[in-house]
Amino acid sequence: MCGIVGYLGKREKKELLLDGLQELEYRGYDSAGIAIIEDDQLNNFKAVGKLANLREKTKDFHSEGFGISIGHTRWATHGKPTELNAHPHLGQYSYVVHNGIIENYQDLKAELQNDGISFLSQTDTETIVHLFEKYNKISSTPFEAFAKTIERLHGAFATLLITEAAPDTIFFAKNGSPMLIGFDADEVYFASSDTPIIGKATQVYYLEDGEYGYAKSGEVKLFDAKGARAIQKQPLATDKAMAQKDGYRFFMEKEIYEQSSVISDTMIGRVRDKEIYFEELDSAFFEGINAIKICACGTSYHAALTSGYLFERLAKIRCDVEIASEFRYKEPLLDPSTLFVTISQSGETADTLEALKMAKRAGLKSLSICNVDNSSIVRESDAVILTRAGIEKGVASTKAFATQAMVLWMLSVYLAQKRQTMSDEAKAIEITAMLQTPKSLLVTEELHGKLHRLSKRYLHGHGFFFIGRDIFYPLALEGALKLKEISYLHAEGYPAGEMKHGPIALADSKLFTIALMPKTVHYDKIKSNVEELSARDATILAISPEPFTLADDFIQTIYASHPMLEFFEMMVVTQILALEIAVRLGNDVDMPRNLAKSVTVE
Ligand code: M6R
Repeated sequence: MCGIVGYLGKREKKELLLDGLQELEYRGYDSAGIAIIEDDQLNNFKAVGKLANLREKTKDFHSEGFGISIGHTRWATHGKPTELNAHPHLGQYSYVVHNGIIENYQDLKAELQNDGISFLSQTDTETIVHLFEKYNKISSTPFEAFAKTIERLHGAFATLLITEAAPDTIFFAKNGSPMLIGFDADEVYFASSDTPIIGKATQVYYLEDGEYGYAKSGEVKLFDAKGARAIQKQPLATDKAMAQKDGYRFFMEKEIYEQSSVISDTMIGRVRDKEIYFEELDSAFFEGINAIKICACGTSYHAALTSGYLFERLAKIRCDVEIASEFRYKEPLLDPSTLFVTISQSGETADTLEALKMAKRAGLKSLSICNVDNSSIVRESDAVILTRAGIEKGVASTKAFATQAMVLWMLSVYLAQKRQTMSDEAKAIEITAMLQTPKSLLVTEELHGKLHRLSKRYLHGHGFFFIGRDIFYPLALEGALKLKEISYLHAEGYPAGEMKHGPIALADSKLFTIALMPKTVHYDKIKSNVEELSARDATILAISPEPFTLADDFIQTIYASHPMLEFFEMMVVTQILALEIAVRLGNDVDMPRNLAKSVTVE
């Protein structure tokens, strides 16, 4: 979510920044900007849209000689993708770029506005530069002012600041969002990941949370809460393709591992003070709404199905979920008191977009839950909640699904708050569980190793049934979809209680059943369903906290306190199982045959 680069040295800075940002464009691309100080001369350029627009705008500009520079490619969180909201943000004589979310920006902004400072953008980032200039008036050095500024920030940030008050220095700080420093002789580089500096810097230091400092004359001074720190540089990788995957074999694998951290981004600013907040929704947004209709495709449809249970159970509001391509042609009866929700990772799925247009023509209010700001579905909707998963490269969706499910869970509780359908105690249970989600999404070496070993037994047979009940039924559908997308093996998701109505006829030792057996939801019922399959000799892989004697294979999850925590943990298991089976079969995990990341045709 947003990419940052910085450079201090003698090289031509514009091209260097633009090339670096190109490598980070996957982190966000709704606007980009650069700021350069050279010979005490400040230059700044910004452009909305992809980086190509900034390239075009800067084509006649060149920088020469020693100087300092920062650049940013944006993934909007606060404020629309406009030039004013693009980074770098300007104070009176300083520029800042930032990745993350300053949670207390509203308090800081109010304080600065009280001091008479006007803001140009709607971003949280602009507070950093004004705060710096405020402190610079009363500090003995610009670095002291920067340190005081950082001390005031709550939330996640990786930030670079340059100022005419110290035209040979780049100030930096990191907390929660990634940033590294690259070194080569007396040149210093900054970036959100190492791909922009591979081939340029020779050594690297990956900043830790809470570290800050400055780069000047080829030297970097590093500090944390305890004071000055030594920098332990390490050699920088030289293989760019490998570096983009952060050492993982596939983007899908990297994205599975990332889920634990991106889910925190999804919650930032939304889950706080024992309440759920969606600042992107007008307080009157749900007025007059007495039902919800959700349309989506594929994985997004499975996330929608999960929320069907949550909206009705928690917010006591009717919720229907439909596959967008079916909805379009069924001549649906639509009532303006129904909120029309679309869910899409890409925001470009043709069927979902057309369903949304139909609902709008029928006068329904619309909300999209999407991972790509400014996408067609987002632009078409009355309101949007961004899932903040960051760019997902693997065609088989993983972190997009996790963040969709999280947004929908938060939205159910948000609506329960509004409709007063939940006691404070019940809400506290939901919120406490939400805050534990990052832990449920962690992939341990032990789990991955076990799934790798076990996967060799599941490469043949005549098919897979993923079974579950309640919210674990959509998860079963999603587990089956993941497996078939990348392994090309036949897999179906089924409600466990439905097997005896027909599908159980297929049961024999070559039928692989992946049984989702959470302890928090109808354990005894699903246990009976799995026993029925086992009695017919089906091969059972049970995923449960509770040891299950009839299982041929068993993955033990933790005894969690909340069904959604079991949901997320089991989701990770099914994703890695699919991945390991596909790898053993020699398939292209990131770009499986016949599929596309964004399905813009009917
Ligand atoms: O971009 P969308 O979420 O609207 O895409 C919908 C489906 O095409 C998508 O989820 C597809 O099923 C994925 N390949 C699943 O891994």
